[in-house]
Amino acid sequence: MSEIAKIELDGTIYELPVVVGTENEKAVDISSLRGKSGYITLDRGFKNTGSCESAITFLDGEKGILRYRGYPIEQLAENASFLEVTYLILKGELPTKQELADFEGVIDNHTLVHEDMKRFFEAYPNKAHPMGILASMICSMSTFYPESQDPNRPKEAFELSINRLIAKFPTLAAMVYKNAVRHPFMYPKNDIGYVENFMFMTWGMPTEDYVPDPIISAALNKLLILHADHEQNCSASTVRIVGSSQANLYASISAGISALWGPLHGGANQAVIEMLEMIQNDGGDLDKWIAKAKDKNDSFRLMGFGHRVYKNFDPRATIIKKACDDILEQLGVKDPTLEIAKKLEEVALNDEYFKSRGLYPNVDFYSGIIYKAIGIPTEMFTVMFAMGRLPGWIAQWQEMLDNSEPIGRPRQVYVGATKRDFVPLDKR
Ligand code: SDX
Repeated sequence: MSEIAKIELDGTIYELPVVVGTENEKAVDISSLRGKSGYITLDRGFKNTGSCESAITFLDGEKGILRYRGYPIEQLAENASFLEVTYLILKGELPTKQELADFEGVIDNHTLVHEDMKRFFEAYPNKAHPMGILASMICSMSTFYPESQDPNRPKEAFELSINRLIAKFPTLAAMVYKNAVRHPFMYPKNDIGYVENFMFMTWGMPTEDYVPDPIISAALNKLLILHADHEQNCSASTVRIVGSSQANLYASISAGISALWGPLHGGANQAVIEMLEMIQNDGGDLDKWIAKAKDKNDSFRLMGFGHRVYKNFDPRATIIKKACDDILEQLGVKDPTLEIAKKLEEVALNDEYFKSRGLYPNVDFYSGIIYKAIGIPTEMFTVMFAMGRLPGWIAQWQEMLDNSEPIGRPRQVYVGATKRDFVPLDKR
């Protein structure tokens, strides 16, 4: 017998259905509330509002649980390749050996981007932020593949758009890097693996042989997996709502990239390193910066700390923190910002302000230290986050379409001026 929620409004009791998920999460379905009572609900930032039912990612913020299609993130990060996890997130099941080989083959065949896309880079100002270029490039893909704009095209045409995007994203990300350092673009090599190909296109040079360092490719593989999806975060919700208007895949993902750019979201990985370096250059006085983070009158926030859902540890941060130690040791890199990060974490985790608000290191707190150690420039950190999140965004977009979700159009409570008559200009 399904549960019912009762709400009393103006003396009338309304009954609303309760939805229970496979992990026993419960929600009151309010879709009939306005029709029955004239009331809507209000929830700034959607902190307590579900936008959809989804089968892609489950997370439990209190218990620090994160699973993609039921598989724990810890197991995937240790045992899978990023394309294997991409297949899982998109199709819902782990691929067989043959299915993975076929998928890798399809991706290998679409890594080249249209030659004309190179010309875009000539127009950007020097020091253009990589996320601004990437968002434009991904949206521009819809102009090179105009058939992708047809929302009624057959399923296999959707599959082609998706495979093109997964294949070309690293190529475009590497071009963004090469443009930033003013080095020549490198054409993809399609027989060395997805992550290794990104490394080749990023750090390879036409004048020399480049062999991807397995320590770095393993680190990137793990980081991409850890970022692959995170249910209805700001950028995934953006992708879903843009796609709900039947905007094409590339435009929807471009919108997700723009949402991710913000320092409160994916841009935090860049902001964390800038914060750690600022603290280091300021003499490393942690107590001063912790006090500023706690001061309501100070705009400074401890970047990489806190999370909308994780009010306990972020399981990804735990994995990345350990990977940090391992990779820096393997590469023989000494990074003082790592020591500052660890001390900052220790001080914060013993401070009532952070403990009482459930503020712990999130996925962005340590990831930038690894990116920095493997030679990725700070302004490219969020591009790496986007590359990891791509399968999740695509799967969320696809699920929204498969479930025939209606166009996203929230209500509001109007608090502006009530009715008043126009006053002619000469009478004001
Ligand atoms: C990501 O949603 C996702 O899943 C996102 C993500 C993903 O994988 O997609 O996990 C990726 O975006 C991780 C978060 C990266 N952002 C940062 O690290 C930026 C710093 N963190 C904060 O800005 C903040 O914690 C948020 C934005 C992450 C969450 O903000 P909420 O849930 O809206 O919480 P809030 O701002 O209402 O904060 C609650 C309290 C407030 O204090 P009080 O009003 O109760 O006194 O905690 C304080 C806040 O001032 N607070 C912080 C803080 N974060 C929250 N105080 C100091 N430093 C911080 N970092």
